[in-house]
Amino acid sequence: MKFTIQPTTYITTVSADVLALFIPESDPDTVIASADIALLDRSLGGVLSSVIRDEHFSGASGKTLSLHSHGKISATHIVLIGVGKKPERMADELITDGAIIAKNAARHHARNVAIVVPTVGPDSQEQLMSLLTEGVLFGNYTFNKHKKKEDEDTKHLFENVIFVVSHEIPQMTVALKEAEAIAQAVCDARDLINEPPSITTPEHLSGIAQGLAKSSKSVSVSVINKKEMESLGMGALLGIAKGATEEPKFIHLTYKGGGSKTVTVVGKGITFDTGGLSLKPPASMETMKLDMSGAAAVLSVFTVLAQLKPKITVHGLISATENMPGPHAVKPGDIVTAMNGKTIEILNTDAEGRVVLADAMSYAAKNIKSDAIIDLATLTGACMVALGEDVAGLFVNDPVLRDALVTSAKRTGERIWELPLVEEYKDLLKSPVADIKNIAKTRYGGAIEGALFIGAFVPENTPWAHLDIAGPAFAEKESPATPLGGTGFGIRLLYDYIRSQSN
Ligand code: BES
Ligand code: ZN
Ligand code: ZN
Repeated sequence: MKFTIQPTTYITTVSADVLALFIPESDPDTVIASADIALLDRSLGGVLSSVIRDEHFSGASGKTLSLHSHGKISATHIVLIGVGKKPERMADELITDGAIIAKNAARHHARNVAIVVPTVGPDSQEQLMSLLTEGVLFGNYTFNKHKKKEDEDTKHLFENVIFVVSHEIPQMTVALKEAEAIAQAVCDARDLINEPPSITTPEHLSGIAQGLAKSSKSVSVSVINKKEMESLGMGALLGIAKGATEEPKFIHLTYKGGGSKTVTVVGKGITFDTGGLSLKPPASMETMKLDMSGAAAVLSVFTVLAQLKPKITVHGLISATENMPGPHAVKPGDIVTAMNGKTIEILNTDAEGRVVLADAMSYAAKNIKSDAIIDLATLTGACMVALGEDVAGLFVNDPVLRDALVTSAKRTGERIWELPLVEEYKDLLKSPVADIKNIAKTRYGGAIEGALFIGAFVPENTPWAHLDIAGPAFAEKESPATPLGGTGFGIRLLYDYIRSQSN
């Protein structure tokens, strides 16, 4: 898809299959009196105003109105999108708007879609264009490569998106380029999550990382295989991998873009979570290909870094393995030793994410001097109970990192909510036979226990944030910008944070 900018005085002259306009909510008469609508209405001989009145279209949020122009203006269809009353629109609402336009375009079998970029509200036009671009690409996203016949409804034809503005400024082109790169990386992550788990193996993930390093001068990678893990003492990751036939991989990506700061991002890469010997019931297993969503986010962040080249150093660490039962699988009661020498009593093999992340954090402590470490993990069902499907849990040990992440979340519309790292709850992870155990005595506070466990392996004196993305990583209900399946959650948030730290 191609995105272009078209400075235009009279929107009646914009040639496209669909011309989309955003309408702030008022009453139908005020809508009709607004400059753009009045202009269109005159060209259409009053048809637009009568349809707006007939349908009582007031610009309410979520309402749309479509009209054929019958050759009276250069665009074939006019689509009005109600945006509600609030002058300040949230980032996620703008993305939804973009996605609604994409769906509308598909319905009209449009190839060229023009979007009139609003000028009201506190956001700059380039910010709006970025979010709309992401929304259009998300609304256009489908995963049907394994379907024999493409569904007529999901066949998207459109090729060109034209942003109609009154004045063009150079920042707009930059914003578009960035938004496209980021949205594409999100769609790549969706693909990776949506692929069957026998395709997205640890080896597959490491292959993607190697491909990235090959095609970009600023990215390098080291893939640590099972043998090397043994000599490094990664007993935690190896322990979880014992039941699997697929070889585990530990992936270390490095992006060097200059600047003075170093950020490390860590992803949980369980390519399928059966629960291991603490086997999940069938229904809970159905979506467990999602359990590498943290890893997918890390890989996609590196795709974006390679393209947009911010001035910063970023390390990406991925612990990748399947979590399988079987004669060799780790058993409840087994004790494994993480790379930092701490012993872990594994009492529930389904609490595997924290165990594999223990080695990633130990590796970071030994090898990387980070200004901040952020891990992304589909870690606990408990976090979904607490925050639902749309919001990630944020656990953070540093107020500056917290504020930066909250700001990035607002800017990108990726929702996070802080939960506490309750010091006293650490006692619940005490083991009679090892340094720590992987589940608490009680199931209360499950998301917190998971975070506290990971925290026990984080390098000392390092700002660290853990994002439990179990809810938002995978959509079980459809919305305009996210079809069912992998969402690519966290990439936009992480990249926005990384860029905010570049200098
Ligand atoms: N991968 C799951 C968490 C999960 C559940 C992600 C649902 C997405 C949707 C994780 O490995 C897990 O099984 N966690 C257990 C922890 C428990 C055994 C302490 C859970 O949440 O039940
Ligand atoms: Zn599990
Ligand atoms: Zn898991």
